[in-house]
Amino acid sequence: MAQPTGQLDTVMHENRIFPPPAEFSRRARIKSMDEYQRLWDEAAADPAAFWATMAREELHWFQPFSTALAWNEPFAKWFVGGTTNASYNCLDKHVAEGRGDRIAFLWEGEPGDARTLTYAELLKQVCKFANVLKSLGVERGDVVSIYMPLTPELAIAMLACARIGAVHSVIFAGFSAEAIADRNNDAKAKIQITADAGYRRGQVLPLKNTVDEALAKSLTVEKCIVLDRVNEAIHMERGRDFWWHELMAQASEDCPAEPLDSENTLFILYTSGSTGKPKGIRHTTAGYNLFVKKTFEWVFDYRDEDVFWCTADCGWVTGHSYVVYGPLSAGATVVLYEGAPNYPHEGRFWEIVEKYKVTIFYTAPTAIRAFMKWGDEHAEKHDLSSLRLLGTVGEGINPEAWMWYHRVIGRERCPIVDTWWQTETGGIMMSPLPGATPTKPGSCTKPLPGVIPQIVDSQGGEVDVHHGGWLTIAHPWPGMLRGIWGDDERYKETYWSKVPGKYLAGDNARRDEDGYYWIMGRIDDVLNVSGHRLSTIEIESALVSHPHVAEAAAVGRPDELKGEAVAVFVTLRGARPSEALRSELVKHVRNQIGALAQPDDVRFTNALPKTRSGKIMRRLLKDIASGKETVGDTTTLEDYSVLARLRSEDE
Ligand code: PRX
Repeated sequence: MAQPTGQLDTVMHENRIFPPPAEFSRRARIKSMDEYQRLWDEAAADPAAFWATMAREELHWFQPFSTALAWNEPFAKWFVGGTTNASYNCLDKHVAEGRGDRIAFLWEGEPGDARTLTYAELLKQVCKFANVLKSLGVERGDVVSIYMPLTPELAIAMLACARIGAVHSVIFAGFSAEAIADRNNDAKAKIQITADAGYRRGQVLPLKNTVDEALAKSLTVEKCIVLDRVNEAIHMERGRDFWWHELMAQASEDCPAEPLDSENTLFILYTSGSTGKPKGIRHTTAGYNLFVKKTFEWVFDYRDEDVFWCTADCGWVTGHSYVVYGPLSAGATVVLYEGAPNYPHEGRFWEIVEKYKVTIFYTAPTAIRAFMKWGDEHAEKHDLSSLRLLGTVGEGINPEAWMWYHRVIGRERCPIVDTWWQTETGGIMMSPLPGATPTKPGSCTKPLPGVIPQIVDSQGGEVDVHHGGWLTIAHPWPGMLRGIWGDDERYKETYWSKVPGKYLAGDNARRDEDGYYWIMGRIDDVLNVSGHRLSTIEIESALVSHPHVAEAAAVGRPDELKGEAVAVFVTLRGARPSEALRSELVKHVRNQIGALAQPDDVRFTNALPKTRSGKIMRRLLKDIASGKETVGDTTTLEDYSVLARLRSEDE
């Protein structure tokens, strides 16, 4: 079976334990491990019944469901026969209960402009925008592609789609025109929503220009709605492009939420897998909505007086689940920040925590490592006493970063929830419950109620305590992906074929003697760069699309800030190695995929090391990329195949 290798091997020796502060537990929703265990056991005894009770209590049903779970492996249907609406659960429900004046979003733009939206105002905007979509011909089941900066309008666009049963596909606003076009074509998107431009670290990103380029290749997109965020002079194509504010000015506020089948597709979100083509992960309405609401309430122990800030962009699943659908279903007050953590200064996040008196703060380990590097003084300058709970997501957090977060940001008062989950799982699967679970730095601790993980070997048998193996989930859960958009075969093959009957997460993990889970990295060729997934093959395909690249291999190497950095090995045709070519290749990958995929090292070689059967020896390249050798002179042509030969002689 796959060896449990990964960057977290060192945490094996971690043995510090931090019990929840007594004061925190006293007020928490789930106050002790006994209480957690009772709930977990109850759920495990009959997961479908457990979730059904919860679904009845937590969601608004236009028509009640008849069956909790219809499981035809690997296809799940939750809450069959019921009709509900995620936008209703996020908005109308609170307004109907007299909570319309509560603040939904506290938004801060990068240049320092700010807006506050109550639930009632947000509902009004969502209704109007839903009517705008309808006026442009969007119907139930149509795909709406969203490529926007993190403004309230991004959330409004998502919720408006949900309201009328359209399917949103949000594409992070750092992706390239090529990447947008690929996703639009795969999804058969009908409408594009974007902004003239966005702010990033003081620069203006020309979003509409990128979209223009993408739309030239997006065969199915008919119309484009443009938010005026920056007031940039842009090209507006007559008959295709429309200004957001002009359409909104004419739209009616009356747009009742449509009763939608529980299994109506709510969104697709593209993520990298182990092949070159990103997959559109499909999530549906009722199960997802319930799962993100409950996990939000359990993990973040949300209370009415809290101010919740998840720093993720809505271009990622974390933004879908814990900026929009989870917190809003729970009636939470959510901070949205448009910009970079170090603009205009490295204390920007702490300034925002102080300004909005944030009580719950959820971010990624890569950001924490950057804060550590920038120095404690930025956090120390600000009053962080409002914080009561901290969270992380996206990759394992190394114990040093955990301790820093605990000491410098949490001031040793705040529990830390290290949440393990994936785009595919919809919501958090494993995490401490902050009032109950003693935490161990580097471990995502235990599964949430209704989640049944198993670590197995390649035969599907459970491995012993302390043995690494493949992380699987043994029973369907409401937030699970329902498939890959337009590709049932790939869905079956990726997640359900290697270990029959169980969902294969793609991570290695081990369990310790206390039943705590430790994630040990991916089992496939997926890199985790700054908490974002990238497939090596995607980067390689981008490289070989350059006329001077004959062959390419991409591997990850450890990086202090990003977790993993991208190193590529390239053989050339019709060109000699040069610094200019190196920069050109970096730029080329950036144009093909986006800035997040751009290689940190480019090495030219006259041959790639291969096995006898022709497979690139990635492990060897990984060792070379991670080695102490400097990569300063990137123009030298080395022959790594010699190394391969030497190694195979050794073996
Ligand atoms: O490898 C795991 C890692 O991120 C992968 C999922 O990536 P993505 O779908 O982009 O979703 C990220 C946000 C939910 C997982 O397969 N990962 C995520 N959270 C953790 C983690 N690894 C260790 N610990 C975590 N808390």
